[in-house]
Amino acid sequence: MRKKLLVGNWKMNKTIKECESFMQDGQKIFAYALTHNLDLGLAPTYLCLSTLKNNAPKEMLVFAQNVHYETNGAYTGEVSCEMLKEIYLSGSIIGHSERRTYDNETSLKCNLKIKSLLNNDLIPLYCVGETEKEFDEGLTYKVIEKQIKEGLQELNDDKVKKIIIAYEPIWSIGTGKNASTEIAENVCKFIRDKVREIYPLAAEEIRILYGGSVKPNNIKSYLLQKDIDGALVGGASLKTDSFSQMVHALID
Ligand code: 13P
Repeated sequence: MRKKLLVGNWKMNKTIKECESFMQDGQKIFAYALTHNLDLGLAPTYLCLSTLKNNAPKEMLVFAQNVHYETNGAYTGEVSCEMLKEIYLSGSIIGHSERRTYDNETSLKCNLKIKSLLNNDLIPLYCVGETEKEFDEGLTYKVIEKQIKEGLQELNDDKVKKIIIAYEPIWSIGTGKNASTEIAENVCKFIRDKVREIYPLAAEEIRILYGGSVKPNNIKSYLLQKDIDGALVGGASLKTDSFSQMVHALID
């Protein structure tokens, strides 16, 4: 049985002070979620990672938003898996569409990052998703299949089990145009089927999240779907009020 998971991706939001105050205000709701069989995760900026980690319940997953695949070296502006591990992080988001769009993060580059994370016992949270144009042209499944095949190449079943995949249609991110539960479930099921073709022993264990304009009033409908194991949330994860409403929507 796959445990449900709610992850907040804060993107380039929140100063250290704001992060501290979120963590203070959130203690009760974090405890409520974690004692009611709901896994929680947060992905702040690098600068907030230590603050967040030091103020989070130990069961909370803490993710970076990006990582480099090399251990060290002349890579200005980058951070390695070893460095994330040193501050006891859980893993890193990889291949978010904003990084694919603005930072040329390809699925093959993501594959190197995924391997490096797994070799360091860290969890890759691998994002896939199509653009609005690709969706309109009926290319969703083709695009997702390529992202899955390239991103997950040359791994093994045991490693793949530890990966979390997030389906985030780019047209739904921050737009309020969330995908219908039917579209989200169909694509998440497709992702599980593709994983099964390559890593048959990992497909039932791997957690697949939906992301894109998830809010307190729609989160539950996604998580009721068979192949959706959680949500990756941007805007609605930034305030403790809406974060708390999402937790209550999932548990109560
Ligand atoms: P929104 O929830 O703001 O649409 O962002 C989704 C997202 O990109 C999470 O990674």
